[in-house]
Amino acid sequence: MSLDALPGFREFYPAELAERNFIIGAWREVARRYAFAEYDGPPLEPLELYTKKSGDEIVGQLYSFTDKGGREVALRPEMTPTLARMVAAKANALRKPVRWFSIPQLFRYERKQRGRLREHFQLNVDIIGEADVTADAELLSVAIDIMRAFGLTSSDVRARVSDRGLLRGLLVLTGITDDMLPGVYAVVDKMDREPRASLETKLRAAGLHDVFIARVFEVLKHPDLATLRERYGDVPELREDFTRLSRYFEYLDALGVGDWVEFDLSIVRGLAYYTGIVFELFDAKRELRAICGGGRYDSLLKQLGGADLPALGFGMGDVVLGELLRARGRMPEWKPSVDVWVAYGDAALLDDAMRIARRLRDQGRAVEYASGGQQLSRQLKAADAAGAREVLVLQPADLERGEAVVRRLADGTETRVRLDEWIGGR
Ligand code: HAM
Repeated sequence: MSLDALPGFREFYPAELAERNFIIGAWREVARRYAFAEYDGPPLEPLELYTKKSGDEIVGQLYSFTDKGGREVALRPEMTPTLARMVAAKANALRKPVRWFSIPQLFRYERKQRGRLREHFQLNVDIIGEADVTADAELLSVAIDIMRAFGLTSSDVRARVSDRGLLRGLLVLTGITDDMLPGVYAVVDKMDREPRASLETKLRAAGLHDVFIARVFEVLKHPDLATLRERYGDVPELREDFTRLSRYFEYLDALGVGDWVEFDLSIVRGLAYYTGIVFELFDAKRELRAICGGGRYDSLLKQLGGADLPALGFGMGDVVLGELLRARGRMPEWKPSVDVWVAYGDAALLDDAMRIARRLRDQGRAVEYASGGQQLSRQLKAADAAGAREVLVLQPADLERGEAVVRRLADGTETRVRLDEWIGGR
């Protein structure tokens, strides 16, 4: 039996963990700037939380089992149902709109493919209790500002947005009924990844006759907003959808992110619960999977038996984002961070080295020293290997005078210092 890590699960050596922390640090910083509060939930949940609301794709990927108490449980594959339940349970007490974010590790039994693992960390940013499209614009602005925080530009990353409300309206006009919609959305979500024949087979399996299948493809033939408005702008049932989208783009401009965004009707998102404007972020070269995805899910809280509150949010994973940052040279290289290495020229000075290390650490410095009895030359090599910025060299005669030599490893310069003053100034 192999004891290797399971396929799709990562081991984070310090360099990899530093990359993960770099990403998470930027997520937290941007969420803070938008005044979102951080929360968390349980990593293990009742299986039903997902089988009811997430949609077939995620349910097929669940890590689920029966626990020792006989409960059907699952490792969380996404955060949204947990959030919806948490907010619904305290809906009256919470100030609305709720602006919360979380960074859970999530688990999905995915098919092996680039950009998709079986665990990932996902930033979730959600706004609950705000029905107006201003919140949709605010939300996308958060996602784009995260890209900007990493130094990426609108030529590196594109946001593609659509509106399930408008798509539903267009499909209903062609005679497609609400019960066919989940099947249609699941297929539209795969549109740019699968050949037409396979999409048609899936639509047939979802119960659509050939004439409806042809209409689905006809509606999606011109996915840009200008063409759609030209063709359907006068249809009374769609007027509200077009007005909402006009305001959305106006607000995105006001928030300074309009030039990152394109409308594309074929973006519907794979999850079942979305009801309105949806979006995904992609690398502009389209080499990678989606960096992030989200949208409005106005009925989910009510369906989970809680308050009837409108909601919207997105999830951004660390995997594709990490690939993109590395590819664009935006991922800082990890360096170990030893500020001071305390070296001693005589084994009897080890206690002094420890006392000095303690004083430096109390001041917040990262300090290391060699364990007992090593030659000074070996200690200096070890300091170099550890990437220490400075080495404090202790010698018996110097110490008696309260002095020591500081060697800067970057350029080899040496300075004699008064120990107390030097430690105090660190
Ligand atoms: P999702 O589209 O399933 O949405 O996932 C969001 C993002 O998480 C993806 O765009 C991708 O970056 C990352 N991701 C998902 N699965 C994997 C995987 N197997 N490996 C690596 N990265 C992955 C949701 O989960 C929604 N709950 C997001 C949301 C929050 N909607 C509203 N609020």
